[in-house]
Amino acid sequence: MRLDDRLEALLARMTLEEKIGQLGIFADMLRPFAADVNPEMNELNAGELREQIRAGRVGAVFNGVGAVQGRESQRIAVEESRLGIPLLMGADVIHGMRTVFPIPLGEAASFEPELAERTARAAAIEATASGLHWTFAPTLDIARDQRWGRVAEAAGEDVVLGNAFAAARVRGFQGSDLTANDSMLATPKHFAGYGAVMGGLDYNSVEMSEGTLRDVHLPPFKAALDAGALTVMSAFNDINGVPASAHDGLLTGLLRGEWGFKGFVVSDYTADFELVAHGFAGDEREATKLSFTAGVDMSMQSGLYAAHLPDLVASGEVPMDVIDQGVRRVLAVKQAIGLFDNPYRSLDPEVEAALDPQALHFDLARDAARRSIVLLKNDDDLLPLRKSGQKLALIGPYARDRDNIEGCWTLFGDTRLHVNLEDGLRAALEDGDALDVVDGSGMEDAIDGGIDAAVEAARKADVVLLAIGEPQGYSGEAQSRTRIVVPAAQQALADAVAATGTPVVVLLRHGRALALHGAVRDAQAILATWFLGTATGTAVADVLFGDYNPSARLPVSFPRDSGQQPLYYNRQRTGRPELPTMSEFKSRWREMPHSALYPFGHGLSYTRFVYGDVELSSDGASADTLDWDGTLTVSVTLRNDGSRFGEEVVQLYIHDRVGSRVRPIRELKDFRKVALAPGEHTTVSFTLRRDQLAFTTRSGAFAAEPGLFDVWIAPDSEAGTAAQFTLARA
Ligand code: BGC
Repeated sequence: MRLDDRLEALLARMTLEEKIGQLGIFADMLRPFAADVNPEMNELNAGELREQIRAGRVGAVFNGVGAVQGRESQRIAVEESRLGIPLLMGADVIHGMRTVFPIPLGEAASFEPELAERTARAAAIEATASGLHWTFAPTLDIARDQRWGRVAEAAGEDVVLGNAFAAARVRGFQGSDLTANDSMLATPKHFAGYGAVMGGLDYNSVEMSEGTLRDVHLPPFKAALDAGALTVMSAFNDINGVPASAHDGLLTGLLRGEWGFKGFVVSDYTADFELVAHGFAGDEREATKLSFTAGVDMSMQSGLYAAHLPDLVASGEVPMDVIDQGVRRVLAVKQAIGLFDNPYRSLDPEVEAALDPQALHFDLARDAARRSIVLLKNDDDLLPLRKSGQKLALIGPYARDRDNIEGCWTLFGDTRLHVNLEDGLRAALEDGDALDVVDGSGMEDAIDGGIDAAVEAARKADVVLLAIGEPQGYSGEAQSRTRIVVPAAQQALADAVAATGTPVVVLLRHGRALALHGAVRDAQAILATWFLGTATGTAVADVLFGDYNPSARLPVSFPRDSGQQPLYYNRQRTGRPELPTMSEFKSRWREMPHSALYPFGHGLSYTRFVYGDVELSSDGASADTLDWDGTLTVSVTLRNDGSRFGEEVVQLYIHDRVGSRVRPIRELKDFRKVALAPGEHTTVSFTLRRDQLAFTTRSGAFAAEPGLFDVWIAPDSEAGTAAQFTLARA
């Protein structure tokens, strides 16, 4: 790769030290945060960092938020360093900046990628106003094991859903013009395989077939790059024994060779340094060499490149061309966002001061939040509730709480904007005083007299709203759990409240799919509310009182028990499936069925949608064959048979009957949210092509194999009656 003449001339003037400077990123102003994450590696304080910037030894800073401080750092880089190369300012803006949107997993439940594009755009507007150019998002790890705490950060267990959200979030962060002041570079992460850490234990190893890697875990990254992402973050984990941050096959062979990626790769936080702890490098010098030559262009926070690349170049172990290649990639990205022409872009304190997140984005936060709430269960149509004439008791540790609204990975949320449950519900009720609010229990521990007070409130109420679930610290980085359940103190509260006989609506808070037990599982109604962010209370009220008819669907399967993990809908067929006709020698658990309590794709509405039979056609005529280069239209009639307006997530699944590698029992191929008035019906059609049936075959080719397929259009991953078609040979 060659840059334009101006940048090539700049490169030619750079000393080795200045080149290596462009290959490092260090934490800025929020030192306490960085220090918390990895104290021993956080050697540079803000003052020292400025000296390093002046000396041309730093190309990028992160967590340095605030236009005033950022402008000063940029001024030093541009005016006081020898070559005046502007800094790139990065941070983790994962699901909102000052306005916090639902955790990405929750937002994926909307099955509306365009919604994620809008919230990412809003996050970029707020973040760039505070001096950022670059976010370390979206997280694209497909997560099939709910014990892993970082499932909260991505789009769930499915690849087609993951691809759609990956592309949407990149488009949203970056906007249509990278040089615009409010465009923020996206960083698909963590490349690659990180979502499959063994046992759901964070930072653990990944053992994975090439086929699963290529068919399940890599596609969201490809989708993000196709949407225009210019940086990628290398992961902490090893894959089949090779750490991702030193994996030349992935970082160079695949990313550059096969996919033609032209941007730069940044390591995850000190991931190069960690090659020593992995036992993959004998010392830091070797770690530097392995990571850099494998294709990690920029080292995050460890300082290893600055410490060891000079010597590695001097000894000839790292050729200067490889250094130049890394520098070119970094400079090219800086140029792409207009930094050389406009180094103070996104660093205008007046823009920052004038930004009013509440006015700009509260309505979007509210809409995103209510579109993320999944109605798991609604026995006897308990919901929606009336706004008057019913005595309601809001019980549980999240009733008044304000510290568990955002969910994991929000560093800059403005808590003054947040609406908790109590405030949101009171504002919606005709008589706000009719709401009785009792904590009942702490998040992890019982409180004195808590259960007694809760039981008393439940007895007096017509309906209990039970606000329970995981505290936000239970999900996110390094928050793996062995038992993915509601904490014991809250379970005891739920059991005691349910024993009063008053109907219970569970308002579940969670950063992953949970295994629901006892009175929580058996409640009359359950709303999966994730961590919804700024508009939590308002959005929950919208759904509870029917101002919004829930339309979200599970992006992860809710198991019956923790011990089923990993449990995901598109698992491969076994030789002994659990069928009623087989004896006990089958793939089964002694204690429970081998299935989800609530499968991927599940979610109810306050209205009733009725599906007709699946019909297959080609060129307008009924068909049961998909020609090799043709298309097959798969259609269904959908009717709103209830009495309310509603939106249904119509899901297209296939099953490949025979494959050269064992195929999943079902695979999502497409989905669409369809809105219908009461009594209205419509035809929903999807177009299937051969490439949607392709997978990494036994020979290693990515191809579809001719033969028989089942196809469903269904409301979830277990429902519906299949039709069949044949993919004809070429
Ligand atoms: C996380 C990344 C994050 C980085 C910088 C790491 O610990 O794994 O997702 O972007 O820190 O904050």
